[in-house]
Amino acid sequence: MTERTLVLVKPDAVARGLTGEILARIERKGLRLVALELRHVSAEVAAEHYAEHVERPFYGSLIEFITSGPVVAAVLAGPRAVAAFRQLAGGTDPVAKAETGSIRGDFGLEVQENLVHGSDSVESAKREIDIWFPALG
Ligand code: PPS
Repeated sequence: MTERTLVLVKPDAVARGLTGEILARIERKGLRLVALELRHVSAEVAAEHYAEHVERPFYGSLIEFITSGPVVAAVLAGPRAVAAFRQLAGGTDPVAKAETGSIRGDFGLEVQENLVHGSDSVESAKREIDIWFPALG
């Protein structure tokens, strides 16, 4: 069954010129790009996107980071797209969790500067796509 997922190429990855590498991995996996846009993230959109993490100790830092420079927002579609992209991304911590061969495992060192975001469930994907690409609804 085809799913959709919301992906962000985060400010660290955009600044390092890794957008093309990350999009190439997505395309090679077989996931289809259905929306793609460079965005400057407002504090409002950032707060809505990360609403579920508002109580976590790193919340303020996470909002500051995601609004620190442009991101590339994308919607991907394909069979099991949510899990497929999370497999490509690797675990949240690029050193302790992400395997070599994953985006975070290959390019990351820090938990915050972990290059990409991918929706963690089909329900989260729907909510996040509504925030970033409401016209796709
Ligand atoms: S997840 O994807 O929800 O399972 O990951 P989780 O570990 O719950 O983390 C949620 C998001 O918070 C970011 N994060 C952090 N940012 C800064 N400092 C610390 N210590 C930290 N720990 C987690 C993590 O990258 C997740 O962001 P997204 O954009 O969802 O990947």
